[in-house]
Amino acid sequence: YFAAMFLVAYLLGSIPFGVLLTRFAGLGDVRNIGSGNIGATNVLRTGRKDLAAATLLCDALKGAAAVIIGARWGGPDFVVTAALGAFLGHLFPVWLGFKGGKGVATYVGCLMAAAWPAGLAFAAIWLGVAFTLRYSSLAALLASLATPFVLAALDRYQLAEAFALLTLLLWLKHHANIRRLIRGEESRIGKK
Ligand code: G3P
Repeated sequence: YFAAMFLVAYLLGSIPFGVLLTRFAGLGDVRNIGSGNIGATNVLRTGRKDLAAATLLCDALKGAAAVIIGARWGGPDFVVTAALGAFLGHLFPVWLGFKGGKGVATYVGCLMAAAWPAGLAFAAIWLGVAFTLRYSSLAALLASLATPFVLAALDRYQLAEAFALLTLLLWLKHHANIRRLIRGEESRIGKK
């Protein structure tokens, strides 16, 4: 049943809401603008805050939905399988030739559903960094780095290990952002 759980979660996670919402809005392919990413940060670079918010919400909700299904189906091991499936679905969606997003919204959606206090901590760190330094990528890198420690502090060791793996994948997907941050060339929120 783990394979079935993984597949359901993967399929949920692989729905590329950023691509779908911008296409339905007649804005063309979001992969042709800004960073080329399919996430809410890059949708915001189309100038449509409403679509960026909807992308953030939908990409988070698909992760949360997978984890909630996992919890109903079979407890902690299924939650981990569901989170991993949804996250990998977003990062490597079969529909986009396995070239997906960077996973931030889906990560926080999974986290909120698995351990909401850790989800709130992630959101607080993200917002704190994003509003002061105005780098979406740096906000996500730091919030995701803190998350395994937050989960361990909450005595959620299995989740801490699982999210450490997701953090590693998230960081790997942000390699171009990390390079731009180091060079001082990363684009700031609010600039196109
Ligand atoms: O979190 C996605 C964000 O961290 C980076 O997006 O489009 O600036 O590469 P982008």
